[in-house]
Amino acid sequence: MIRLGVLGCGDVAFRTYLPGLAALRGRVAVSACTDPIAPRAAQFAEEVGALLGEPCAVYPTLDDMLKAPGLDGVLNLSPAPYHFDTTSKILNAGLNCYSEKPIAGTLEEARALMRLADDRGVMLLCAPATMASSRFRWLKEQIDSGLIGRPTLITAQQANMGPALWREYKGDPAVFYTEKVGPTLDTGVYPLHGMTGLLGPATSVSAVGGIVNPERISTIPERYGERIAVTGNDLMLIHLTWGGPDGPAFGQLFSSFSTPRTTQPVFEIHGERGSISIADIPTWYDLSRPVDLLLLNPSRDGKYETWVKAGPDDIGPVTQPIQSGPLHFVDVLAGREQPILSAAHATHVLEIIRGAEQSARQGGAPVMLEGF
Ligand SMILES: NC(=O)c1ccc[n+]([C@@H]2O[C@H](COP(=O)([O-])OP(=O)(O)OC[C@H]3O[C@@H](n4cnc5c(N)ncnc54)[C@H](O)[C@@H]3O)[C@@H](O)[C@H]2O)c1
Repeated sequence: MIRLGVLGCGDVAFRTYLPGLAALRGRVAVSACTDPIAPRAAQFAEEVGALLGEPCAVYPTLDDMLKAPGLDGVLNLSPAPYHFDTTSKILNAGLNCYSEKPIAGTLEEARALMRLADDRGVMLLCAPATMASSRFRWLKEQIDSGLIGRPTLITAQQANMGPALWREYKGDPAVFYTEKVGPTLDTGVYPLHGMTGLLGPATSVSAVGGIVNPERISTIPERYGERIAVTGNDLMLIHLTWGGPDGPAFGQLFSSFSTPRTTQPVFEIHGERGSISIADIPTWYDLSRPVDLLLLNPSRDGKYETWVKAGPDDIGPVTQPIQSGPLHFVDVLAGREQPILSAAHATHVLEIIRGAEQSARQGGAPVMLEGF
């Protein structure tokens, strides 16, 4: 039995982690939780206790929870701006940590967290969980096996109007439209993690972007009509390069909280002799949906190209990519698999995002990346 603590009992904790943890009943106990808003922690403790059949104690503060006996690790589900401080406390307490994205606000902070985890001899894994999802594990196997030949291009999008219009969103959407978060740090991280998980560390990034809609009017029922000032870029068009002995590869990400919707696939990878495409509509969040695979026909006869449905035979116990993260964390803690969602990879994704912002400020000039 792996014993976890949960920091932050907000939207993602209730809507996504809780149903995902159901798949771990009998293997996991959430034996402690905390939130600065006490009733949220109390409600989470009640629901997770009932779900897993194991009692969950509520602690008034993170410092108190970190003294709880017998914890193997902590899920850090606090808002993005607090990740550095809170993950530092968790690691300093000698506990393993799975942090929601981003790993931290700056590269210096992210690297300090990696050093701290090493010094304390504990593990730090980080969302997004893209590469731990059944779909991207399968995709990596196909790419590595040469199914579509050498990959040359990945195109991706995460484009909508942002959380002010997500009717189901229960948190405060305002922070997402500031420089502290923005569309790339919030949702662009998913494809950036996938691109660099499949192709390895990127060599350079360039971008253009800006604030194209300076105000959002919320349509979340509880916040209907609230006006939100947009103070950070709400549109980013990002280009990535990869160098390598076998030839170059390129990436393109359309990342926006100012686009009503797009029918573009959420992620496409193209190789010398085939393409794989993941549709956004109705939702890329459902891992049970197959991807579209196209292989060129090299023979003289038959159709030049054919799209077929493809994907893993077994998607495992969770159906939502975000839920693959805590599942992977638990499997690593239990010694059932090797870490995939490394802090070094999350730090490289942060390096790309900060590099893209720098490039956009400089009118699109490329920024060289260190990689991981
Ligand atoms: N909501 C989603 O759909 C979603 C999806 C994927 C990832 N995430 C990530 O999950 C994390 C939490 O997002 P959310 O949408 O659940 O936010 P939220 O605001 O709804 O919930 C965060 C909770 O953390 C608590 N908290 C804990 N420590 C805190 C501290 N030190 N200061 C302030 N508040 C503290 C808040 O009181 C709140 O209850 C973020 O990193 C976000 O990027 C969210």
